[in-house]
Amino acid sequence: MEKRPRIAVVGSANVDLTTFSDRFPEPGETIFGQKFDLGFGGKGANQAVAARLCGAEVFMVARVGDDLFGPSTIKNFENLGIDATHVRQVSGVSSGVAPIFVDPSGQNRIIVVKGANNELKPADVDAAAEMLKSADCIVLQFEIPLETVYYTIKFARRNGIRCILNPAPAQPIDTQAIAELDYFIPNESEAFAISGMRVSDVEEAKRCATNLLSGGIRRVLITLGANGALLAGSDGMDHVPAFSVRSVDSTGAGDAFIGSFATFLGEGVPELEAVKRANLYAGLSTTGVGTQKSFYDRARFEAEWASRSKT
Ligand code: RIB
Repeated sequence: MEKRPRIAVVGSANVDLTTFSDRFPEPGETIFGQKFDLGFGGKGANQAVAARLCGAEVFMVARVGDDLFGPSTIKNFENLGIDATHVRQVSGVSSGVAPIFVDPSGQNRIIVVKGANNELKPADVDAAAEMLKSADCIVLQFEIPLETVYYTIKFARRNGIRCILNPAPAQPIDTQAIAELDYFIPNESEAFAISGMRVSDVEEAKRCATNLLSGGIRRVLITLGANGALLAGSDGMDHVPAFSVRSVDSTGAGDAFIGSFATFLGEGVPELEAVKRANLYAGLSTTGVGTQKSFYDRARFEAEWASRSKT
């Protein structure tokens, strides 16, 4: 490894309540599920954990509630070696939670209740400013207030820190406010929701990326699930195919992609190889149940990479 990147995640932390069932109930119907899993999640926290497991030094800026989940979420960060100095409990609010439903193909449907994540404000970014200034990269998502996301993008630009935004879950955005990003990384449905352009194959992804680049973002990286990822910038576009895996639960795969991509890039891995590696890291995460608990550590990942990157 060339260099140990310092990655700061300003984002969400949730507790995931995942139910596996053959189908979804009709309105008014009760059905039996097959399995249940309780685990730590939230797009921000998942991205932080992926980066940490890949070997980065990771700092989390987040808010949790004053319920059972708050302290255990902080403990989870600490157990994984993630700096949680700026993860604070808010009183009178629940922690973020996510009831998740997974079907037999591994596809998920998620409802996020933001709870304390909604209380992460620009003032919290200011409070963490010294720590954030020491980061090589700041990673953001959309499970916290948009004003905090925009404020952090400006902060990163002012301080010359690489900034990655994962616009998930998708919502209408101020394109001016995100124009100074280094990487904008949506999946197909987020790219569609934001640009209004359908993304169901690589050609459509190229057209959508062209549209997003015209707004001023430097690099657009659209993740395409089993189709891999499309990297686009003013110098052209590259489609990076996915690796084939036996998927049981795709929840958190996008987060695995982003946390690992930020780490590989921070290590100095060439950009296209970083995308290829992140494709594999994300694919491998779908072979296990849950979000953070399905992420590979670096040694397991490298073993897979060594055997698969030759093919
Ligand atoms: O991307 C997966 C995540 O989305 C889950 O961990 C859930 O908490 C929601 O934030």
